[in-house]
Amino acid sequence: MSWIADNSLTTFQKFCIKILKCGPIPEHVAIIMDGNRRYAQKQHVEKAEGHSKGFDKLSDCLSWCRELEVKEVTVYAFSIENFKRSKEEVDQLMQLAREKFARLFEEQDKLNEHGVCIRVIGNLALLPEDLRKLIAKAMLMTEHNNKAILNVAFSYTSRDEITNSIQTIVEAAKQGKIELDEISEELISQCLYTKSNPDLLVRTSGEVRLSDFLLWQTSDSQIHFTDVLWPEFGIWHLLGGIFKYQRAHKQIFKLQEEETSREVVNENVKLFLNELSERRLRQLEIYANA
Ligand code: FPP
Ligand code: MG
Repeated sequence: MSWIADNSLTTFQKFCIKILKCGPIPEHVAIIMDGNRRYAQKQHVEKAEGHSKGFDKLSDCLSWCRELEVKEVTVYAFSIENFKRSKEEVDQLMQLAREKFARLFEEQDKLNEHGVCIRVIGNLALLPEDLRKLIAKAMLMTEHNNKAILNVAFSYTSRDEITNSIQTIVEAAKQGKIELDEISEELISQCLYTKSNPDLLVRTSGEVRLSDFLLWQTSDSQIHFTDVLWPEFGIWHLLGGIFKYQRAHKQIFKLQEEETSREVVNENVKLFLNELSERRLRQLEIYANA
């Protein structure tokens, strides 16, 4: 199945979306896609089939988000903890990722047409070399698209991301690129892999945990837990989350306004951050050309 699926919404569903769009729509939605294996067990199919159905659901869900005009989506596709699963399952998930990331190249025109930038966030050094190369090429291919962002958290945990941010800052301080008193919440935020914080976080499968996903970024997000298993997630489950966000919107907006902005004003720090994004880009080019 394609990353950019055609919308197959009914007239009634489109009508409901139009009504919801009269209210505030979250700019950034994050999703913990949980329950693939329980779905597989329920359907008496292999785990790999459950994960494959999980990808198909992701594709559907992205088309609903497009219809809702959500600008940024971040999905938890593979955590660093998932490396501890059986070798068979990890290999199957890596193979699924190879197939799906390779498919992005066939869909380049569609991605450009919709202006979708694909970013894979996580510790890419832990991935097999061939997959890392594919991912880096896919990211470079879409880096200039700016209408919509899809962040795929793959080989990711939030604590690893925060540690990476702190290490980057400590290294810069040691090299005299920034002063110790320039270390701030904003700077740590800017050194994370994400560019913005989610307004709404959805987790499926009835688990009521964050499982080391975007811990720093979700302090003011509306959180929507739903019992449905990810491959059975439907448009009404997503709209339920959006409705919940709308009801809490005033309060969330106030919290977000009160929160110190991510923007860094200090020129010295700005210089370091520009250099960091250049360095990360060069790292991607190295992975892509390996
Ligand atoms: C959680 O369900 C799901 C995963 C660990 C994998 C998620 C992957 C996809 C949806 C496919 C996306 C692929 C790409 C390349 C973006 P689980 O395995 O924890 O199931 P359980 O909670 O029922 O045990
Ligand atoms: Mg799970």
